[in-house]
Amino acid sequence: MPETPRTPKRPGPDIPTVAVGDNAPDETAPDPDSPLRDPDAPTLPEVAVGEGTVDRVIQGHTYDGIREYDNPMPGWWVALFWAGIVFAPIYALGVHAFDWIDDYGDDFAESGERLEEVRALYAATGPSFKTDPGALREYAGDAEMAQAGVVHFAAICAACHGDNGEGTIGPNLTDEFWIHGADPEQLWTSISEGFPAQGMPPMSAQLGEQERAEVLAYVVSLQGTDPPNAKAPEGEPAL
Ligand code: HEC
Repeated sequence: MPETPRTPKRPGPDIPTVAVGDNAPDETAPDPDSPLRDPDAPTLPEVAVGEGTVDRVIQGHTYDGIREYDNPMPGWWVALFWAGIVFAPIYALGVHAFDWIDDYGDDFAESGERLEEVRALYAATGPSFKTDPGALREYAGDAEMAQAGVVHFAAICAACHGDNGEGTIGPNLTDEFWIHGADPEQLWTSISEGFPAQGMPPMSAQLGEQERAEVLAYVVSLQGTDPPNAKAPEGEPAL
């Protein structure tokens, strides 16, 4: 391979003027002996572009005297570009056609299966805490549970039902009047699901099953306690 002719580093080479359009006279074309104009040159000529750097000039690209350097994109950029091109169809096929790659729905279904397994395991251990109507009736009369429920009532319910259940924002829980009903099953629903439209959030979000049962027992134990500042009765007398 012949030596690539080099142009002096500084000042840079004079950029030749060039004819534009079909009728432009030939004489304005750059020096035909210039290596920059040699279409058969085996290597691209290099020109100085700054201190210690040279760049190759693309042959035959001269417009209004402006030439183009052959500056390839950096290797890492080209690698990323090709990697993207290779990755895209694999990913698209993997997700949409062959199901090699899990999407959100797959992950969700998988978690659902795992949840079922955990539930089955839990059910197999025979959890002792029950919330069927019979069990709720038992809790309702359980003094020990009522005692345990005081803590939850003071922490959460008192803000709306008063320290002693006398009622403030929420209704009085100590009288025999109930808007929704006083049987343990209904109380369980009232406490667990709340009345979001009326301003009571569902307590199942804050209290576990046993805690709700304890607070239920405490609410039942408040019946007839007649605290001071009792709020006026709301609803119907319990049967
Ligand atoms: C943010 C306020 C708020 C909090 C906290 C709150 N409640 Fe209520 N609660 C209400 C309101 C308001 C109602 C009335 C709903 C209606 O008018 O239907 C209500 C209704 C009830 C009822 C039904 C009363 C009836 O007459 O049928 C029960 C039982 C009850 N709450 C228990 C509780 C317990 C137990 C807690 C604590 C674990 C609690 N509430 C926490 C606001 C609250």
